[in-house]
Amino acid sequence: MKKPNMLDAKKRHQNKINYTKYNEVTEKFGEGKKFFVRTYGCQMNEHDSEKIRGMLLSAGFVPCDDIVDADIIILNTCAIRENAHDKVFGFLGVLKHMKQSKKDLIVGITGCMSQEEVVVNEILNKYKQVDFVIGTHNLDNLLSVLKEKMDTNKRQIEVLSYEGDVVENIPVLRESKYSAWVDIIYGCDKFCTYCIVPYTRGTQRSRRHEDIVSEVEELVKNGYKEVTLLGQNVNAYGKDLYSDYTLANLLKDVADTGIERLRFVTSHPWDFTSEMVDVIAANKNIMPYIHLPLQSGSNKILKLMNRRYTKEEYLKLYKEIRDKVENSSITTDIIVGFPGETEEDFLDTLDVVNKCKFDGAFTFAFSPRENTPAARMTDAIDEDVKMDRLHRLNEVVNKYSNEANSKMLGTIVKCLVTSLSDKDKSKVCGYTENMKLVNIKGDASLIGKIVDVKITDTKSFSLDGEYVESK
Ligand code: 5AD
Ligand code: SF4
Repeated sequence: MKKPNMLDAKKRHQNKINYTKYNEVTEKFGEGKKFFVRTYGCQMNEHDSEKIRGMLLSAGFVPCDDIVDADIIILNTCAIRENAHDKVFGFLGVLKHMKQSKKDLIVGITGCMSQEEVVVNEILNKYKQVDFVIGTHNLDNLLSVLKEKMDTNKRQIEVLSYEGDVVENIPVLRESKYSAWVDIIYGCDKFCTYCIVPYTRGTQRSRRHEDIVSEVEELVKNGYKEVTLLGQNVNAYGKDLYSDYTLANLLKDVADTGIERLRFVTSHPWDFTSEMVDVIAANKNIMPYIHLPLQSGSNKILKLMNRRYTKEEYLKLYKEIRDKVENSSITTDIIVGFPGETEEDFLDTLDVVNKCKFDGAFTFAFSPRENTPAARMTDAIDEDVKMDRLHRLNEVVNKYSNEANSKMLGTIVKCLVTSLSDKDKSKVCGYTENMKLVNIKGDASLIGKIVDVKITDTKSFSLDGEYVESK
């Protein structure tokens, strides 16, 4: 058994990162068994779930659409805020009942929660329905851990608290045939004081640019229209590996593969250089959409958060992107109620929102995370004050998303149609270049294509449109 240790996870080990290849498992020990993977959290977790599905498929397991048919259930978890935890623990209650009527059912936990000491201890003591736990650094060992569980029927806890290797060629079962996620950098070394990611995902490790470009070339060959480059902080790409190859170089090299749409998330303002903005502006296939977390508009709070930029520097970068990148859309993340946040600090945040008029914002109430510096800070903000600020912030944020969307009314824009519309199965849906969701009057034959769409109505979180034939 290998349990996580948060103090070890904080250390940045001097070991060189190994670049290795996935150890293929040839034995089809999963034949006749079905699996179901449930994902919590960010796109990186979504993509990890694609790897989990790919590995399981390679051993003969098959996916199922209904969880009640599954022989193996994996919860790929998120630890970013307490409510992510609550959802997983709540669902483990449901799985306990399922196990009572299906004795052979195997339940596994992967993802960020498995890297937390308190969570693993709680699972060991209270959640006997969990058969295995694998951490984020050794996900590529999934099949051997699962096989060990199946052969011995003993609980398996395999979590490393030091950075893992960069493992290439893990099998992937992608969710979409048109739009693909591609990892470029794992982990994070920024240590924002509220954030658990540097502990659960370890030190910053960039993939080699040749490996990234060849993965995208393969996707282009297989008909993919869109690629999203993934990392907790993509703008730090290359810093740990090269002296003179940055995200700007990578964006250009990936754009040159001919992929029709190139996106990237998430950006950190501190590492965002003018050179990167120029590359985005100069390449038509790099989409004009940037997610640029602000977190707070108060210089005092930004300092306490260890964000390494000021309100003024954020505004300068924001303006540079808006000025250089045509038709850009910029969204953000904001936390309210960080320890010590006064009404004045909160008004500074509102001031930045009023100046930037973001296309959208994900807003959060501060949630203390195990072992992070902010969790130890005094001056906690009362829950009702946090909720009041969140509510006031959301009103302003929604006003600007509405305004940004209304500007698109009547225009004809390019959309990559990805699926039938969730709300109305007689329609399809897709995303504009600047990442707005559009429900489109049009039939299923449009799925997988980039088409012209006339915007006929706008709402806060989506647009309505109709397909127009290109001339
Ligand atoms: N409390 C509240 N929000 C958080 N985030 C990260 N950690 C916390 C926390 N402890 C938010 C940040 C980040 C987004 C993914 O989640 O805004 O950008
Ligand atoms: Fe967390 Fe900050 Fe790293 Fe983003 S940059 S993952 S908020 S520590």
